[in-house]
Amino acid sequence: TADDDILRARGLIRVVHDHPEPGIAFQDITPLLADARALRACVEAMVAPFAGRFDVVAGLEARGFLLAGAAAVLTGSGLIPLRKAGRLPAPAARADYVLEYGQASIEVSEDLGAGDRVLVVDDVLATGGTLAAAHRLVAARGASVAGSACLLELDGLGGRDVVPDVHTLIGV
Ligand code: PRP
Repeated sequence: TADDDILRARGLIRVVHDHPEPGIAFQDITPLLADARALRACVEAMVAPFAGRFDVVAGLEARGFLLAGAAAVLTGSGLIPLRKAGRLPAPAARADYVLEYGQASIEVSEDLGAGDRVLVVDDVLATGGTLAAAHRLVAARGASVAGSACLLELDGLGGRDVVPDVHTLIGV
């Protein structure tokens, strides 16, 4: 079943201790991405609750791109990259957010249009700052968020409070 596939996918996440710094247990999804069945099952489960309710998939740089591209093709949708500031040749809108140390921004091109219904896709929900900024970026273009989906949810970092409606598959 689909649930069995997600359980199996969970087992493919590689925990790398002390990365990127001492004390951090990094959840590495690359073994899951490399597994054809797990990749398909996860992307299918990420988009399932939003079937027929969105026009485009917006993916967050960089690891969100990996899942967003797959989700777009799987659902017959277009793909919109939400890029770290300074990468797009012609940004049309920008959203700023606060990181643990300092500040970050994401940008989107004019290809995200007014009235578009957007499924926002990322790999990991941690503090929720990135996803909340993505929602503001979509709104800044006059588009609407049809839903948000992340593969992993890191518990205890408050992301669920910041973006309560996000759909996640695997909690760690
Ligand atoms: C990571 C992850 C999410 C974000 C989640 O991205 O891919 O986008 O952090 O964290 P938050 O919920 O606390 O905002 P990162 O900035 O490391 O970028 P990368 O995908 O380019 O490695």
